Amino acid sequence: MKAYLLDQAVARYVLEHSTPPDPLLQELAKETVEATGDNAGLQISPDQGVFLTMITQLLAPSVAVEVGTFTGYSSVCIARGLSGGRLHCFDVSEEWTSIARRYWTAAGVDDRVTLTLGPALETLAAFDQTIDLAFLDADKGNYPGYYELLMERLRPGGLIVADNTLRRGWVADPGHDEPTTVDIRRFNELVIGDPRVSALVLPVADGMTLIRKK
Ligand SMILES: C[S@@+](CC[C@H](N)C(=O)[O-])C[C@H]1O[C@@H](n2cnc3c(N)ncnc32)[C@H](O)[C@@H]1O
Repeated sequence: MKAYLLDQAVARYVLEHSTPPDPLLQELAKETVEATGDNAGLQISPDQGVFLTMITQLLAPSVAVEVGTFTGYSSVCIARGLSGGRLHCFDVSEEWTSIARRYWTAAGVDDRVTLTLGPALETLAAFDQTIDLAFLDADKGNYPGYYELLMERLRPGGLIVADNTLRRGWVADPGHDEPTTVDIRRFNELVIGDPRVSALVLPVADGMTLIRKK
């Protein structure tokens, strides 16, 4: 579990009292380590997976979008929460999403997931559907661009969930100038300054911001 913001005992407790990943998600996590090595850290953690399934069940979106699919963990979790809607996944990597495709089939959700390969700024700009729920988890420098494109398409009351918004807590240290931290800080300022939304930063995993369009 990614728990950069909790002490180890609390992190263990959270893990022990949250629904664990089922065998399919465990297998996906294992295969992701074997296939992608150090990049496996890009995957969301199991508690985030439970969160994404629950929030999808609660919102019952007709149209959900994921920006940043990787090997499929978060998309399986979102797709499992759908009741009649579709999940549109955007990523640049044929290699990594080929693993995702196999797990959509194994999870029995491939009939409700669409994958578009290519730079997500372009894919989103061409996306002409009203969005109910979006999960944002791709390259951090483009978060502001993704945000504007998502906001233009999000229905009032719709939700964007943005990942890695605390950047291991470094965002709160003004002296920390690692480029991704600077990108995330810029994104967080954009969101909190936007009168169109209400926002909540959850100190879960690496920080997840819930952004609800008014
Ligand atoms: C943090 S990972 C996503 C993790 C995923 N949500 C999961 O649960 O496993 C980020 C993904 O964004 C993709 N990505 C990076 N830059 C992109 C871009 N410009 N357009 C689309 N996808 C991009 C990468 O290929 C990578 O798969």
